[in-house]
Amino acid sequence: MARKHKQTTPAQVIAITSGKGGVGKTHTSINLGAALVQLKKKVLILDADLGLANVNVLLGFTPKATIHELVAGKATIDEIIINDNSGIDVIPATSGIQEIASLDESGRQIIMTALDELAFSYDYIIVDTAAGIGKNVMFFNAGAGEIIVVINPEPTSITDAYAVIKVLSQSYGRKDFSILCNSTPRDSNGKVTFAKLIAATDRFLNVSLRYRGEIGHDMAVQEAVRTQRPFLEVFPSSRASMDVMKLAKNVIEDPVRAAPSGGMQFFFHAMLGS
Ligand SMILES: Nc1ncnc2c1ncn2[C@@H]1O[C@H](COP(=O)(O)OP(=O)(O)OP(=O)(O)O)[C@@H](O)[C@H]1O
Ligand SMILES: [Mg+2]
Repeated sequence: MARKHKQTTPAQVIAITSGKGGVGKTHTSINLGAALVQLKKKVLILDADLGLANVNVLLGFTPKATIHELVAGKATIDEIIINDNSGIDVIPATSGIQEIASLDESGRQIIMTALDELAFSYDYIIVDTAAGIGKNVMFFNAGAGEIIVVINPEPTSITDAYAVIKVLSQSYGRKDFSILCNSTPRDSNGKVTFAKLIAATDRFLNVSLRYRGEIGHDMAVQEAVRTQRPFLEVFPSSRASMDVMKLAKNVIEDPVRAAPSGGMQFFFHAMLGS
C-alpha cells in the first residue's frame, strides 16, 4: 500500500501489448516504469496478464493478495497495491487461476472502478497485458490512453502485431498506435522492423502508427531476470538501459492525447457501462 498524494490531472494509461508472446512486454513495462520513477514520475504497473503473473516475479516479490482477491471482493485496491523498492507501485496478478484469466463483465467493472479511483494518484499507469487477441487483452487495450505494441525483428512478431492492430481498429475503434521495437540487433535499427509493420498497416488498415523507440538486444536483460530486478537498476549503463531511458523521456515529452483524455478512458468506459 503506497499511494498518497493526489494529482491535479489524471494518469496517462499506457497499455504495453503484443500479438506474439515473449517479445518483451513485461521487461518493457517494468523498466519503463523504473525509468519514469527516476524521472520523478509516480508510476503504477497493473499486471494484466491476469492468470500468469510475471511482474512480481521479475521484481522479486511474492504478493499476499492479488487482483484475484480484488475481483472476488476479498480485498480492497489499497490492500493489494505493493510498493516495490524501486519506487514503482504494482497491482499484482495471480498465477494458475483460470476464472481470472477469462474475466466476466462484473470482474471488468470492478477493475475499471478501482483504476478510476487511482487515476489522480499517479502520473502513469502502465498496463502489462498478456499476448494475443483474447477478450481481456482487448479490454485493457481499449481502455488505455496509449497503446504501445511491442515487436521484435522476428516475422511472426510483425504478423501477430498486425493482427492485434486490426482487431483493435476494426472492433474497438482504436486508430492510433505506438510501436516499440525490442531486441534490435547491434548492427541494425528499430526503424527497420517498424518499416515492415507500417508497410502492411498502411496498405490494408486505416490506422496511424507512431515509432516510439527501440530497445536493443542486450544480455543485460537476461541477466536481470536472474537477479529479479529491473535491468535499469542492475545494469544502468547497459545498451538496454540507455534505450529505455530514451523511451521514458520520449513518453514524457511527446504524450499521446487520446480522447476523452488519457487515464480517464477507464472512467469513461465505466460510465458507459461498456
Ligand atoms: N531487449 C532484449 N534483449 C535480450 N533479451 C530480451 C530482450 N527483451 C526480452 N528478452 C528476452 O525475452 C524474454 C521474454 O521477455 P518478457 O517476459 O518481457 O516478454 P513478454 O512479452 O512479457 O512475454 P509474455 O507474452 O509471455 O508475457 C526475457 O526473459 C528475455 O530473456
Ligand atoms: Mg509478460
